[in-house]
Formats: sequence, structure tokens, C-alpha cells
Amino acid sequence: MQIAIDGPASSGKSTIAKKVAQQLNFLYVDTGAMYRAATWLAQQNQVDFGDALKITLLLKKYPINFKLTKTQQLVFVGSTDVTQAIRTSIISQNVSQVSALEEVRHLLVQQQRDLANQNNVVMDGRDIGTVVLPQAQVKIFMTASVDERAQRRYQENLARNIKTPLDQLQQEIATRDYKDSHRKISPLKQAVDAILLDTTSLDIDQVVQKVLEIIQLNLNK
Ligand code: DC
Repeated sequence: MQIAIDGPASSGKSTIAKKVAQQLNFLYVDTGAMYRAATWLAQQNQVDFGDALKITLLLKKYPINFKLTKTQQLVFVGSTDVTQAIRTSIISQNVSQVSALEEVRHLLVQQQRDLANQNNVVMDGRDIGTVVLPQAQVKIFMTASVDERAQRRYQENLARNIKTPLDQLQQEIATRDYKDSHRKISPLKQAVDAILLDTTSLDIDQVVQKVLEIIQLNLNK
């Protein structure tokens, strides 16, 4: 069973997808974390963020893995835990460039499809319903206003002890929205058969509830 959740930065996708996956006992795949991990690899190895060949070589040498603990899902690159490192500003500012590289997308999309073929998944990203899993049984496109999304990322960062000013986050999110939806390959867009869910005025539990209802409705079709 494949559940695809797409939407712009900080629309609540990851938090919701994680909780829904937990409730259903499905694997949660955070594809944004995979593009962030690729960006981290480039940065660590002083590789240009536009150098697709070197980044794909690095990704083959140091594969991305998710490890589930009792409290959180960790992201590994090779044997290094990058869960925190991939959330810093330097990565957020450069991930659009790396995620626009065709060869990088090709490799990571293949890994995402493999995960979805081997497990029941809740997968979140930008192109899951449109490109990665066009046959997904359930597709949801999640949105929220830029102000609300910046506020959410601000709180998330505080919890991780990262202190980025709110106006900087608003700027980063607006810039990333633009880049993500205007890039040539797999731009952020709602699949024709996806259900639109605006989470601006909903709290986490309400959104989880709505998503579970949507899944239930689709299963009974
Ligand atoms: O969801 P996020 O903010 O962690 O995603 C980081 C970046 O990765 C975002 O700028 C867009 C990109 N991305 C993508 O191009 N395709 C995906 N399936 C997921 C994320």
C-alpha cells in the first residue's frame, strides 16, 4: 500500500506523515531528508552543489538509510548520523540546487521506488504523487500559508536548538517554494488525482485525523 503526501516546505507533511505511518504501522519515507542528505554530502566533501556527477558518486559510496528508534527516525549517510546536520540553514539554502539535478533525482527516485515496492509506505515530498509513485492508492497535497509554515519551522528549530530568525525563515520558505515549483524536472505540483488539504488553521491531531479519514474513504472505494 502506498500513501503519497506532497506539498511545499513546512506544510506539516513530515510531522503528519510520520504520525500516520506510526498509526498504520507503515514505513515512513522522508524524501526531502534524502535530498538534504545529498546536499550535506556535497558540502562535507567540498563538492560544488551543481556537480551532479560527483554528488551521485558520493551517494553511491555513502548510501542514505533511515533508522527508527523509539522516539524518532534517524537519517544516516554511510555510517554518519546526519539527522540534525541536514536541518541547518546552509543545507536549507542549497538543497533546491541539488534537488534540481537530474542525475541526483534519478538515483534517489529509484531508491524511493524500491522502498515503496518492498514496504507499505507513507512517503512525503514534492513529486511523490506525480512522478515517484503515480500509482499510489492515496494521494494528498498539503498546503498552509507562508507565515504559518515559517512559524512552524521556527518552533521545530527551537526544539532542535537551532536559532534562525523568523523573517529569515519566511524568506527561505518563499524562495524555496518558488524554486521548487518552477524547476524544470519534477516541479512541486498537485497531482490531478490528489486531495487538497489546507492545514493553516488545523492542529496536528486534526490533520492526522483528516488524513486517516481520507485513507479510509479511499480503501472503501
Ligand atoms: O521537505 P524538505 O523541506 O525537507 O525538502 C528539502 C528540499 O528537497 C526541498 O527544497 C525540495 C526538495 N525535494 C524535492 O525536490 N523532491 C522531493 N520529493 C522532496 C524534497
